[in-house]
Amino acid sequence: MTDTQPASPAPQSGGGSSPSLENLLHETRAFPPSEEFAAQANATADLYAAAGADRLAFWAEQANTLLTWKTPFTETLDWSGAPVARWFADGTLNAAYNAVDRHVEAGHGDRVAFHFEGEPGDTRTVTYADLQREVSKAANALTELGVRTGDRVVIYMPMLIESVVAMLACARVGAPHSVVFGGFSADALRSRIADAGAKLVITADGGYRKGAPSALKPAVDEALSPKAGEPATTVEKVLVVKRTEQDVDWTEGRDVWWHEAVNGASDQHEPVWVEAEHPLFILYTSGTTGKPKGILHTTGGYLTQTSYTHRNVFDLKPETDVFWCTADIGWVTGHSYIVYGPLVNGATQVLYEGTPDTPHRGRWWELVQKYQVSIFYTAPTAIRACMKWGDDIPAGFDLSSLRLLGSVGEPINPEAWMWYREHIGGGAAPIVDTWWQTETGAIMISPLPGVTATKPGSAQVPLPGVAADVVDDEAHVVPDGSGGYLVLSEPWPSMLRGIWGDLERYKETYWSRYEGLYFAGDGAKKDDDGDIWLLGRVDDVMNVSGHRLSTTEIESALVSNDIVAEAAVVGAADETTGQAVVAFVILRGEHAGRAETDDGAAQVQTELRNHVAKEIGPIAKPKRILVVPELPKTRSGKIMRRLLRDIAEDRQVGDATTLADSTVMDKIAAGLKAPS
Ligand code: WTA
Repeated sequence: MTDTQPASPAPQSGGGSSPSLENLLHETRAFPPSEEFAAQANATADLYAAAGADRLAFWAEQANTLLTWKTPFTETLDWSGAPVARWFADGTLNAAYNAVDRHVEAGHGDRVAFHFEGEPGDTRTVTYADLQREVSKAANALTELGVRTGDRVVIYMPMLIESVVAMLACARVGAPHSVVFGGFSADALRSRIADAGAKLVITADGGYRKGAPSALKPAVDEALSPKAGEPATTVEKVLVVKRTEQDVDWTEGRDVWWHEAVNGASDQHEPVWVEAEHPLFILYTSGTTGKPKGILHTTGGYLTQTSYTHRNVFDLKPETDVFWCTADIGWVTGHSYIVYGPLVNGATQVLYEGTPDTPHRGRWWELVQKYQVSIFYTAPTAIRACMKWGDDIPAGFDLSSLRLLGSVGEPINPEAWMWYREHIGGGAAPIVDTWWQTETGAIMISPLPGVTATKPGSAQVPLPGVAADVVDDEAHVVPDGSGGYLVLSEPWPSMLRGIWGDLERYKETYWSRYEGLYFAGDGAKKDDDGDIWLLGRVDDVMNVSGHRLSTTEIESALVSNDIVAEAAVVGAADETTGQAVVAFVILRGEHAGRAETDDGAAQVQTELRNHVAKEIGPIAKPKRILVVPELPKTRSGKIMRRLLRDIAEDRQVGDATTLADSTVMDKIAAGLKAPS
């Protein structure tokens, strides 16, 4: 019950630090690539011409040159079942073979696939030959544990080599994986396991975070425990990696140590050759309702576009580059730009377990220096945190190996872009601001680093082969200089193939707003050159530190607490995290008095924040919780979040004339004298 869409095609600027329409009009800086960079770049302007001439032939060529097929495909795209696409459907291949084995067969077995760095400082170097042995052993172990092609496996892990091995082992046997971010709670894990109908869970005793071991196994135990009114879990076995050596509870017959199952297994394994449309993974992401969506990706198209974008957007030279994407494998960025894209391209990467400020705030830059990282991909929220920590921190390290920088996850404000360029990129490295989503599987809109004159704050141009535009309410393409909604107008190889188990929701969410166009849920504007600027979400999805969170999901979590009668959540602009979760709650009658004193209000806040952490995960904890006597609603009962956002952002409250009771905002303001 929310005002989901703004009435006119003038999307709110989601995060406060996202560029507003006004300041976009003033941003005139542009940075063309140096001649030196352009001369050596993988991607030239010819790509646009080739894709423009024959889009399908272009994608077929990418699929043929970037991947190794067991059986070649004869049909590029079958769109007869729209909006569910079939790409390269009669070809067969295996994702793990493409990511690992073929590099060994081509004589690159000694190339480093990963420089692993644990948070406590332990390191491990893994070559492609090592990876082939590890993945084969793990695939044999999975088979031994009863996993068959088509079975779903949930992976709930810290950032370890074993996490990548686990994903590839699943791909090797054709068992779709569903990675659940380690920061999600037992409850969130339980619902994802149930929705996917997983047979196996792969986890670890724990991982290192912020200088201490952080347990994971207890959440799995809790997620699998019987619960009244719910069907028994589909999970038969739990495979546990030993990382922190924390004590773990053990369920005999169900729990198996990774080292016992995997180390002794044979390192010879024949990959299962699957059809291009075989499901590769399901990844849950927040939508506009309380129930997370299981985004389904398949094999051939996904691998084509992740490797194509990784090669061209990041200009990867596999022999010489060291690539580092700081994302967690629990998010799509980790799937596409740590596991599949880079490995399919034979890249050498850094994999780091921990946080950027442990044990000190220069940890990332120390790693860049240590491993001579040449391509670095991170999120605006991290860049803004580093800005806050001070220029002197990166200045203390030799970052001269960096030749290309990337940004993803939310709009990057021009100030952060300029800081990134200056203080991390030495004023020279091109920056690629890459727009995409869990649903798109791979980058869709981005500069090409040797071609595009980059503009601070803009993702700019659809990649060759991608059709994106900005439309108004009536689906008309807006003229340059105007704003509207971002849409994708042609199917693309790595597009989602649906929502797991819910085709209707897939159609409804993405394809019902405009006939024949994919609705991304983002506001956007085209500048006078026709370049695209992303303006943040236009639905009830928030973007906090580059993580997608649903307002409705957090509201449901809040009202599931006994003391809460009603709740409304908004994303308020935040200097560092882009948006921050701010909750407005009405307490139940018998608890209403509790928030009247400062101490009481603080206690209520803590209680409710912990409750949300338990229901969803610490990432979803509201930054502020304001106890209010009423919520602003329209006559039809919709909560007017726009007004609440005004309060959360300390702005003058906007037009409240459509409220059922126009005095509500005054009552709320009067009641908010309590500290926040
Ligand atoms: C936002 C992350 C502006 C956008 C890959 C999108 C961005 C959502 C950018 C998807 C960008 C991602 N500029 N906004 N470069 N990249 N977004 O599924 O709102 O976690 O819809 O995928 O992040 O988030 P998701």
